[in-house]
Amino acid sequence: MNAPETGKQTLTKLPASNYYCETHYQNEIEAVFRKTWLNICREDDLPNPGDFITYDLHDVGAPIIIARGKDQKLRAFYNMCTHRGNVVEMAKKGNRKGFKCNFHGWTFDLEGQLVALPEQQYFPQVDCAEEHLVTVHCDTWGGFVYINLCEGEPEWTLAEFHEPLTESMGELMGDRKWYRTHGYQATVNCNWKLPYDALIEFYHFAALHPKTVGGGLSLKGFMPTIFSDSPGSVGFFESYYAPETATESPTPIQELTTTIGNFGLYVQSKAPKALGDTSAINQFDRPDWGTTTYAFIPNVCIMPVGLNGLALQRAWPIGPDKCTFEILFYSMEPQPPSDFVKLFCQRAAQYNNRDIASEDFSTLERIQRNLKRAPVKSFHFGMEEAVNHALQEQIQRHIDRHLARAAQT
Ligand code: FES
Ligand SMILES: [Fe+2]
Repeated sequence: MNAPETGKQTLTKLPASNYYCETHYQNEIEAVFRKTWLNICREDDLPNPGDFITYDLHDVGAPIIIARGKDQKLRAFYNMCTHRGNVVEMAKKGNRKGFKCNFHGWTFDLEGQLVALPEQQYFPQVDCAEEHLVTVHCDTWGGFVYINLCEGEPEWTLAEFHEPLTESMGELMGDRKWYRTHGYQATVNCNWKLPYDALIEFYHFAALHPKTVGGGLSLKGFMPTIFSDSPGSVGFFESYYAPETATESPTPIQELTTTIGNFGLYVQSKAPKALGDTSAINQFDRPDWGTTTYAFIPNVCIMPVGLNGLALQRAWPIGPDKCTFEILFYSMEPQPPSDFVKLFCQRAAQYNNRDIASEDFSTLERIQRNLKRAPVKSFHFGMEEAVNHALQEQIQRHIDRHLARAAQT
């Protein structure tokens, strides 16, 4: 991997209205969320034929089902009956031979085909062979399952969409099996980009998180790498353990989990090599490497956490000033850990993660309340916030392309 393009980004002020303007919001939904690849779950969540998950896409689109067919293939559909629009599956996950709508009983198989229509003689106009749940593009990358809601063929394959981060993340994702440890979901009264922004810069750690993250992670002058020409990879940055930047000392629990533990940002200083060979993601092979944060269009951030963990975080729009935020943690070890020490440290990290997120959310809701009521027209982004800046530039490019096409038709 090449060295980061330190300081090469051109930073400009960006409009504050990007965080509340209804028109900009609708453009984001149409041009970005409904045209690009969306991260939904892990392949491991649906290992067997008949396994399914349902997922609420909030303002992005109707809910979806992802199901593994008898042929082992993963397929995605809108969770919407073709009779009169009810969902065909109420459960969040499970295993079924097919999906039976509980309104009038139309039933669809794992391939989305209508296979049972009660009192079919009263539907002379319906050809069951022609009736199918509406399919959604579905593919996998790094063990994650993605969908794309666009009509017709997606402009980019999922692999193209994730270039050039595929290479740098290959070793991290690889063929590893990641086990879910814990997760959080919260509805937050702010634009979806505010929580996403808070993930893709560590500039705020020292001021906002002195008691939780401890302020002890720093970019140490290595500025983010930005992929200006990529449709789906925004950029990444490494951060390094920097106890000298911490504004407060670790709590006793943090100190304890640091000393004995296996999960949590503080751990890195004691055992940075424990991920194994991290050369792909720890590009300078530095012993003080803390983590690497990867940002993707439109709403996903992935980062290794602690000795053997992975955090995936997503923000889903509900409106210009409301979103749902999800944090999902995975471990390389089968869950729950059989070792009490590991279990203890994992639980401690779980509550630490919750506290970190709470510190962000209360701040972000305050920002959102300020946005519309103050005469501030634009915001500054520093070099440590270059990924945030790039995110909005890439979103704007998607919007511009979408609007230009719409103008031609
Ligand atoms: S809406 Fe599904 S069977 Fe009528
Ligand atoms: Fe934060």
